[in-house]
Amino acid sequence: KGDKSGVSSINRGLVMARELTMNRIFSGVQPTGNLHLGNYLGAIRNWVQLQADYECIFCVVDLHAITAWQEPEELTANTREVAAAMIASGIDPKDNIICNQSQVSNHAELAWIFNCVARLGWLNRMTQFKEKAGKDRERASAGLFVYPNLMAADILAYRAGHVPVGEDQKQHLELANDIGEKFNHDWEVPGFFPEIEPLILGEATRVMSLRDGTKKMSKSDPSDMSRINLTDDADQIAQKIRKAKTDPEPLPETAAGFEGRPEARNLVTIYAALTDSTTAQVLGEVGGSGFGDFKKKLADAAVAHLSPITSEMNRLLADPAEIDRTLFKGGEKARAMSAPVLASVREILGFVQPG
Ligand code: TYM
Repeated sequence: KGDKSGVSSINRGLVMARELTMNRIFSGVQPTGNLHLGNYLGAIRNWVQLQADYECIFCVVDLHAITAWQEPEELTANTREVAAAMIASGIDPKDNIICNQSQVSNHAELAWIFNCVARLGWLNRMTQFKEKAGKDRERASAGLFVYPNLMAADILAYRAGHVPVGEDQKQHLELANDIGEKFNHDWEVPGFFPEIEPLILGEATRVMSLRDGTKKMSKSDPSDMSRINLTDDADQIAQKIRKAKTDPEPLPETAAGFEGRPEARNLVTIYAALTDSTTAQVLGEVGGSGFGDFKKKLADAAVAHLSPITSEMNRLLADPAEIDRTLFKGGEKARAMSAPVLASVREILGFVQPG
């Protein structure tokens, strides 16, 4: 494998920088439309809280979005909408990086390298690929299959040690760790890529569909009644909650009573997350009562929490040029931050570089 002396000096420098990057956060959202309460409670809201203690990169992952067909004008609009949602939720774009992935080509370059590190067998085990590709796997894009390699590159291009996400991303982060570990091992650069710690925080790490408590709330569900979108107004939110599927029993007194009642569990979890309380506290308050009264409280809590965010989002979206400037500035900072990592990677691999 040739002379390692250059590599170990790179490595020494980066190991010293490790303490720093352990305090770095990366996370992303796909601009595929219908940003919903699950994205907010499972991810964005936690980012708002974490920004004070970490150096953060929050990315609108447009390269991930095109693993399935996106109409160009919609992709543009959805990218701005996700950026606006982050800012409206309370992420400060001055202290943190808010960028869109395609403006930082380091992600794509590192993803290619990771395509050559990850094994087909690992990718074959990804449940999200199986779900998204469905029965007709032969027709899925190759990008959809290597999607998790790009995710690993997103994070490791900054050597970020922490990744706040919802429960559904856990398997992808385990794969990202396998990739980082194999890279460190194969090129004999121990500790070059840090171990990534998933931060799966809060009560609502997996918000379920309002129409079926066994299915995840999702941007791609054909029924708009299955989710609360961040763009919904107060009437739409109230109507969706009123019509949410429930069962005929009163709410249970304890969490054990959720057994076989996924819709009840989901609505109570959402209420707990929105009111900053625990499921046990909510059940202490509403256990034994019927869904009618509870749904009113839930709708009020959802509207109180989301309305200010929605109106701020709309205000920001009225000036798309300003959002684009924010994304451009974020992209500049992100390129600068990831450049030294990519330079080291090229050197480690033995790519000939300008001196
Ligand atoms: P995406 O766009 O599907 O979702 C964005 C974030 O929202 C969380 N989430 C949920 N949380 C709770 N309940 C739900 N029903 C729910 N639905 C979505 C997701 O867990 C995620 O945190 N592959 C990622 C984007 C990505 C990324 C990354 C994330 C690309 N590169 C690097 C972290 C690090 C995705 O498709 O998220």
